[in-house]
Amino acid sequence: MTAASPSTPLRVALAGLGTVGAGVLALLQRNLPLIARRAGRPIIVTAVSARDRQRDRGVAIADLAWEDDATALASRPDVDAVVELIGGADGPALTLARAAMAAAKPFVTANKAMMAHHGLELATAAEQAGVPLKFEAAVAGGIPIIKGLREGAAANSIAAVHGILNGTCNYILSRMERDALEFSDVLADAQALGFAEADPSFDIDGVDAAHKLAILSAIAFGSKPDFAAVAIHGIRPVRLVDIHQAAALGYRIRLVGHAEQAAAKLLQRVQPVLVPLAHPLAAVKGPLNAVVAEADHAGRLIFMGAGAGAGPTASAVVADLMDVARGERGPAFAMPVAQLVAMAPADPSERQARHYLRLRVADRPGVLAEVAALLRDSGVSIERLNQPAPDADGSVHLMIVTHLVAEWAAGAAPGARGGRRAVLAPPLIMPIMEEEQFA
Ligand SMILES: NC(=O)c1ccc[n+]([C@@H]2O[C@H](COP(=O)([O-])OP(=O)(O)OC[C@H]3O[C@@H](n4cnc5c(N)ncnc54)[C@H](OP(=O)(O)O)[C@@H]3O)[C@@H](O)[C@H]2O)c1
Repeated sequence: MTAASPSTPLRVALAGLGTVGAGVLALLQRNLPLIARRAGRPIIVTAVSARDRQRDRGVAIADLAWEDDATALASRPDVDAVVELIGGADGPALTLARAAMAAAKPFVTANKAMMAHHGLELATAAEQAGVPLKFEAAVAGGIPIIKGLREGAAANSIAAVHGILNGTCNYILSRMERDALEFSDVLADAQALGFAEADPSFDIDGVDAAHKLAILSAIAFGSKPDFAAVAIHGIRPVRLVDIHQAAALGYRIRLVGHAEQAAAKLLQRVQPVLVPLAHPLAAVKGPLNAVVAEADHAGRLIFMGAGAGAGPTASAVVADLMDVARGERGPAFAMPVAQLVAMAPADPSERQARHYLRLRVADRPGVLAEVAALLRDSGVSIERLNQPAPDADGSVHLMIVTHLVAEWAAGAAPGARGGRRAVLAPPLIMPIMEEEQFA
């Protein structure tokens, strides 16, 4: 990339004109003078690609060059930088990323799936080509968390990051609590309102949050992005009864992406967690996202805002383009690829915590004592035990809060000899976030 004079516009190609792509066009049209003053030069879109050329996208594209094959954008002489907003870990998005690197063109993407799976390859290619690879919009939409950690907190050693990284899950959990609704009812409503996809599995099963966590971990800990090492549990098993029980105990259930360094190992997991009401993550409601980073010198850093949507996501994409326009080309994952280390994954089930257990049990006398004995035999000591009234479907549940115990031990009792007679279904186990973690 050669240095541009202040009056030379940065000429951009946009691949994908959906929610985010159209949002980027709209934002650039609206704020262009301000953006040009801040970036030192205008940013203009010269060429675009999508599947359907005729579709009305609510923004003018008639004057822009069109490519049916998005890959062709990378080699156009009137394109200085490529923006990928198609989505998907592989396929046309990855082909375009590789083509942009091969053409030594700066590359901006909002694609967390691709960055989680192929981030290392792309960062290596970007370094070799001497071009920036930027993906602020890939994690927590409009929240400048990548810049915040990579630049603002660059001098700190980060002990842990916790994040609410999926707005759909947070919306569902918030609505279950606010309106006393079951998971399936809120999901249907969220789909009707556009907060959840027709196929919501990537969101509610925690995969989307895990993509973002893998990217965040690499930046926070200087580790090679390792999506396969993220332990993933989604929110499907969470019931209204759990929300009520958690509230009675002083907690709110949140899908939390958590990463921490333990010795030379890296723990990464996404799962529903009981968050104390006083913790900043408990205050995050509706489709918002938030990330809390524990930094050794800056202390606790809290980032919160809109994790999705046309405006917020376009804001992050265009901020990356402004960095490109200024000629900034820091390493993708906060340090050169050669400095990133492959950290061995820590086993989350070994982590000691108090745990919340919900067990569906047989409706007969003595079952409570049987379960207590099973837990005792597995080395699990009980801090609280509660048996709420049977569900509408007649299911009988036991809610248990354990003392400090490894998750595997908390989950072992129901599967132990005799456990299957008393416990009728796999238990729901959620760790409890402790007050000390944020004192
Ligand atoms: N939506 C959000 O709030 C949000 C937030 C953060 C990150 N992201 C990420 O941003 C990316 C885009 O998301 P989105 O919500 O904007 O998706 P979207 O609304 O589904 O838009 C995808 C776009 O890609 C185009 N496309 C599909 N296949 C293509 C191909 N082979 N060649 C060229 N164009 C192709 C589609 O064309 P047609 O329009 O012609 O069908 C559409 O314009 C994804 O990586 C997503 O994870 C989205």
